[in-house]
Amino acid sequence: MTPLRSFLRAETNELHRDLDDLIGPLASPSDYGRFLAGTYRHRAAVEAALRETCVSLPLGWRPRELASVLELDLAELGVHRPRAMPFSLSNDIASVLGASYVLEGSALGARVLVRDALRLGFEADRGARYLSAQSASPETWRDFLACLESLGRADWNRAADSARQVFSHAIQAFSSEKLPAA
Ligand code: HEM
Repeated sequence: MTPLRSFLRAETNELHRDLDDLIGPLASPSDYGRFLAGTYRHRAAVEAALRETCVSLPLGWRPRELASVLELDLAELGVHRPRAMPFSLSNDIASVLGASYVLEGSALGARVLVRDALRLGFEADRGARYLSAQSASPETWRDFLACLESLGRADWNRAADSARQVFSHAIQAFSSEKLPAA
């Protein structure tokens, strides 16, 4: 495993475990609907922050945007689209790469989760678009890792702080999906 990826993985391991526990198994359509809603609440905001920040930075790479695909899945499940949960990102390359590590890395977990969605009867072009899109393109992750490893050692801690902030944002977004409707 490449050095900065190993570092970020170790630095966020505990938060990833908390998030897994919070999401739990996708055993029913309503579990899956909550997963999509929590993902949208989190991801739409982080993607928007990355889009704004990347415009002004010399990065030879752009994060993948999947919020619109999530919107289709939500509509196909008949789940109300939640509001994105505000997220702010520092305007520097290390923070962008740390945040992107979390969004791009979630595609690795998607390979596991997509099997649950398909088992529930959803398909790559109906209800399981987001997880299918993520798991269908391993080259996106490889391209990202090449860009990630260009970051100098002095900036690693800043990248890890940003990755932790994004994981914490996801935990908050999924926690609010567990609350009963107001
Ligand atoms: C129940 C939900 C989830 C499960 C079961 C899960 C599972 C996994 C698994 C099995 C991997 C490792 C895959 C591999 O090494 O090939 C992984 C990696 C990863 N996941 Fe998740 N994941 C979940 C949710 C999420 C979410 C919601 C996010 C982000 C918001 C996320 C972020 C990451 C990241 C950043 C990695 C890359 C770690 C590395 O560098 O290897 N995961 N996940």
